[in-house]
Amino acid sequence: MLDIKLEDIKPLFTEDELQNRIKEIAAELNSFYKVEEVYAICVLKGAVMFATDLVKYLDMPLKMEFIRLSSYGTGRNTTGKVNAVDISLPDLNGKNVLIIEDIIDTGLTAKFLMDFMACNFKTKSTKFCSLLDKKISRKTDIEPDYYGFHIDDKFIVGYGLDYEGYFRNLKFIGYVE
Ligand code: IMP
Ligand code: MG
Repeated sequence: MLDIKLEDIKPLFTEDELQNRIKEIAAELNSFYKVEEVYAICVLKGAVMFATDLVKYLDMPLKMEFIRLSSYGTGRNTTGKVNAVDISLPDLNGKNVLIIEDIIDTGLTAKFLMDFMACNFKTKSTKFCSLLDKKISRKTDIEPDYYGFHIDDKFIVGYGLDYEGYFRNLKFIGYVE
């Protein structure tokens, strides 16, 4: 049974704050890539909302790919192990790759993906973009190339991020104590 109620979720970023920041990130990406083609890789399931909103504001020729990883165990406890559930991708040799994530926490997922790209493809560029950056729990030396907001050591839900699969559908981001 779900032991967190919607009322227990304390607001952190409103829908407007998220959308405004996403437009700012998109502007940075537009000025970096200009008219170069980009492969936007959405890391399911958490990044689905962020990725689909972000790409709407990108102006370059763009293709979207979806991969599915899982690193979280049950509830709020990370397993510290990254599982590639589905990581089938087209040939990315010579391409600009933009990995889109919901949150970078320990950084293990980011490291796994950056290593995966480096081992499998000689891309033109590989950039990592995360909506949230939970710096405090970092266990790797990876930093996102683009990020939306820094957050404290809180358990976050909403706008793609889940607790036991719930709350991904919220328009805002909140935390639970
Ligand atoms: P990392 O590998 O520890 O950096 O964690 C990355 C993944 O863990 C993210 O893509 C999320 O799916 C999940 N995650 C990390 N922190 C949270 C959180 O506060 N709420 C929900 N999911 C989280
Ligand atoms: Mg994720």
